[in-house]
Amino acid sequence: MDFSGIDLTTEVVRTERLLLRPYRPEDVDPVYRACQHPDLQRWLTALPSPYTREAAADFVTGIAPRGRAAGTDLGCAIDVDGEFVGSCGLHALTTGRLGPEVGYWVAPWARRQGYASEAAGGLAQWALDRGAARVHLFTDVENTASQAVARRAGFTQEGVVRSCLEYRDGGRGDAVLFGRLAGG
Ligand SMILES: CC(C)(COP(=O)(O)OP(=O)(O)OC[C@H]1O[C@@H](n2cnc3c(N)ncnc32)[C@H](O)[C@@H]1OP(=O)(O)O)[C@@H](O)C(=O)NCCC(=O)NCCS
Repeated sequence: MDFSGIDLTTEVVRTERLLLRPYRPEDVDPVYRACQHPDLQRWLTALPSPYTREAAADFVTGIAPRGRAAGTDLGCAIDVDGEFVGSCGLHALTTGRLGPEVGYWVAPWARRQGYASEAAGGLAQWALDRGAARVHLFTDVENTASQAVARRAGFTQEGVVRSCLEYRDGGRGDAVLFGRLAGG
């Protein structure tokens, strides 16, 4: 994949209802509020815990823009009519044989409206349209909500990767690998 012609620092992805855009400082508050939710803490094991306002500010103004500037990630706020409703991203854009990795979460106040599946599908299409042979994502074997999102976003279950997840308590778990290929 070659992103040399694309300015990832400003790139946006549009879907039917969503604008997937770079983070901006006013996203710190909703990111902070959303990340207090126990299932974000449960399923996103890399999330700092407890999740502080400083962690939200570091993500919005540091980690996410740095990934775009480095050309490694396309981290996006999910925006509906100017309101922040969640987060999604493409990671490891040009490295790894599984292709770019899609990730997502939706704020507790905006769920069950199809936003996660629309965002995941939009990011996958963006990468496939720009030359990726495939995109992938992992979900915990117990995260059935996220597995439903992946299927609705056009991904196919490819297998179970054993013991690739590391939990906060030091335990390990299995993940379902999903993939979506260029050409369907
Ligand atoms: C999983 C998550 C992203 C779903 O976001 P969402 O915007 O509500 O998902 P969608 O509305 O696109 O849901 C698509 C389908 O997934 C399924 N689904 C979503 N949430 C579900 C839940 N809590 N329980 C069961 N099924 C669920 C449903 O089949 C849904 O379709 P329906 O509402 O028409 O029945 C959200 O609950 C979340 O952020 N969870 C915590 C973080 C996380 O697990 N991220 C993924 C890590 S791999």
